[in-house]
Amino acid sequence: MTAFKPGDPLTINRLYGRSSGHKLRLGQQELIDRLLPQIAVPAQGEVTAEQLFGEDRPLHFEIGFGSGEHLADRADMLPDHGFIGAEPFLNGVATAVGHVRDKHLANVRLHMGDALEVLQRLPDSGLSFLYLLHPDPWPKARHAKRRMMNDGPVELFAAKLKPGGELRVATDHPVYLEWALTVMQRHQDSFEWTAEKPPDFLHPSGGWIETRYGAKSRREGRRPYHLRYRRS
Ligand SMILES: C[S@@+](CC[C@H](N)C(=O)[O-])C[C@H]1O[C@@H](n2cnc3c(N)ncnc32)[C@H](O)[C@@H]1O
Repeated sequence: MTAFKPGDPLTINRLYGRSSGHKLRLGQQELIDRLLPQIAVPAQGEVTAEQLFGEDRPLHFEIGFGSGEHLADRADMLPDHGFIGAEPFLNGVATAVGHVRDKHLANVRLHMGDALEVLQRLPDSGLSFLYLLHPDPWPKARHAKRRMMNDGPVELFAAKLKPGGELRVATDHPVYLEWALTVMQRHQDSFEWTAEKPPDFLHPSGGWIETRYGAKSRREGRRPYHLRYRRS
């Protein structure tokens, strides 16, 4: 496991956004109380495919899955793979648990809380895919340290992805796009940007499913960018 020292950017609290919104409906509360505990990532200890799914299988991890549409659709598409999603927003988690129930997904595990806390408990080279889709942009320069895309987290992403594994990042925010490209350039020993021409990052490819936020962004006339990086 990668060891992170006290004072490392990862040890700071990375949960800056809201963790709950409107009051849950009774059915949603039941999903949280009854189904979530059955599919929750254990609160402590190493997180492996064997431990979560009873066998070795390709693992996917989604940071900040929102309401879980992307996670559920990808899990539906790849039933032999294992999917882990982390999201602190209670209402989003409730909706995601509903997708797991409605699609009868046996290959999804969820964590309500900070993605980096779970990611650190995965064995190095344990992941085949890592998704960071429309992370909160924190556009003000003084909030740049709050962005998920920063050197500490990206080092963690590199440690946890296996060689040939893929990091997918989506954003529609020009400040975040420039920031993400710059951060990733500093890590080009670990990651190779797969885009060769603009259509490669202007359109989703490789079974990339648009998220709820991505669809809203296009409806409102913004342009989502889709960055795919291969772990060297
Ligand atoms: C703009 S939303 C995008 C949601 C979803 N990915 C989509 O594209 O529809 C960003 C999400 O990241 C979540 N988030 C923020 N910090 C996080 C963290 N440390 N770990 C996991 N999720 C986080 C927020 O709660 C929020 O739901």
